[in-house]
Amino acid sequence: MNSPVKKMTHLLDPIETASIDALRQTQLERMRWSLLHAYENVPFYRQSFDAAGVHPSELSSLADLAKFPFTVKNDLRDNYPYGMFAVPMRDIVRLHASSGTTGKPTVVGYTQKDIDTWANVVARSLRAAGAHAGDIVHVAYGYGLFTGGLGAHYGAERLGCTVIPMSGGQTEKQVQLIRDFNPDVLMVTPSYMLNLADEMDRQGVDPHQLNLRLGVFGAEPWTGTMRTELERRLGIDAMDIYGLSEVMGPGVGMECLETKDGPTLWEDLFYPEIIDPATGDVLPDGDYGELVFTTLTKEALPIIRYRTRDLTRLLPGTARPMRRIDKITGRSDDMLIIRGVNVFPTQVEEQILRLAELSPHYEMVISRNGNLDQVEVKVELKPEAAGIGAEGKARVIKTLSHHIKSYIGISTAIRVTAPGSLTRSEGKARHVTDLR
Ligand code: DLL
Repeated sequence: MNSPVKKMTHLLDPIETASIDALRQTQLERMRWSLLHAYENVPFYRQSFDAAGVHPSELSSLADLAKFPFTVKNDLRDNYPYGMFAVPMRDIVRLHASSGTTGKPTVVGYTQKDIDTWANVVARSLRAAGAHAGDIVHVAYGYGLFTGGLGAHYGAERLGCTVIPMSGGQTEKQVQLIRDFNPDVLMVTPSYMLNLADEMDRQGVDPHQLNLRLGVFGAEPWTGTMRTELERRLGIDAMDIYGLSEVMGPGVGMECLETKDGPTLWEDLFYPEIIDPATGDVLPDGDYGELVFTTLTKEALPIIRYRTRDLTRLLPGTARPMRRIDKITGRSDDMLIIRGVNVFPTQVEEQILRLAELSPHYEMVISRNGNLDQVEVKVELKPEAAGIGAEGKARVIKTLSHHIKSYIGISTAIRVTAPGSLTRSEGKARHVTDLR
């Protein structure tokens, strides 16, 4: 019997099924071009390559990339707004920017060809996730300077879908339109999806009665346990899409429906490395470290060895020959150090979701009492568990604090709150308030 994967292969971009040798050859040719393009057109790269004593002509193998210096977010800030662009402004057809929590935003630019490549790779991503021409796609990623909305939009159009450009916010109206327009695919952050699911309950909309069959969720870390929860609750396949504005936007990697085992990186366009964040050394595939990207075709903003601060590891290809990433544990900037223990909010999320009474809505407040870090975890009960009473709550608190202590290694004060009591996300969730 033909597997669904086999039946679909004629629809894939040829590079998606190319041999590893052919892929590596393409990467090498493109990398040479990209390094030279950056060196010749961006003063920042000329200076940083010169300072490191390397020239693009010295790249004779992909491994030679390790000789070139890294680029970090601050380099983009220092060259605010247009200093990293490698083409004249008249060739830039689009700007996006990420606000960040402090300081100036980082600005990214695209030529028409870049926009085209981006639309193609998001279309490729959607197809890998199981979407196809003719699907109705509701986009609830924010439109505007954030790359989520427009990136998803152009890709879904490119695939031949009907796009509903809803953007984030207006939760009540979102659900009304989801009911009326009956989309096949939802593109939204996982945390906002939860918010929408709660609103569906409130409005008496049963997601299992809708056409909805696919969620394309990303822009923030989310756990495998959260996938199970979203799939069960909504009756969909919940697929992980990865990306970042400095490298392109959504669609740098996408999980394939047939394997659901972490985003396949579209390596023909974005070359990945994993480095030891402390030493900068390149690590072998399979080792955990910081993900670094070099763009291979981008014209407006070629980016060389960009340190994403995302922590994960590279895994061998499964549904495609290209490599995958494991679930992102978190960004190195999101890592909390609590009494000397490194903690990611996703680890706490995982423990919360082990308990049937608890919803995925949670907040962590970190404070300091004298010299001691203190962590309070506020977590909402599921509506169906709202009546468990004081005894039930005490039991849940005891179990959760025990799990967090034994699996993560920190002591926490747990507060179990009523359904709907915590602030809801309309985009990327903020799970942590650090008062230290
Ligand atoms: O979040 C692009 C995007 C939009 C991706 C929509 C997917 C869907 P930035 O605002 O620049 O761009 O934030 C990029 O978000 O470095 C990761 O830390 C995080 N991130 C993005 N996707 C995932 C994911 C967009 N699937 C930063 N899993 C990245 C975990 C993710 N973290």
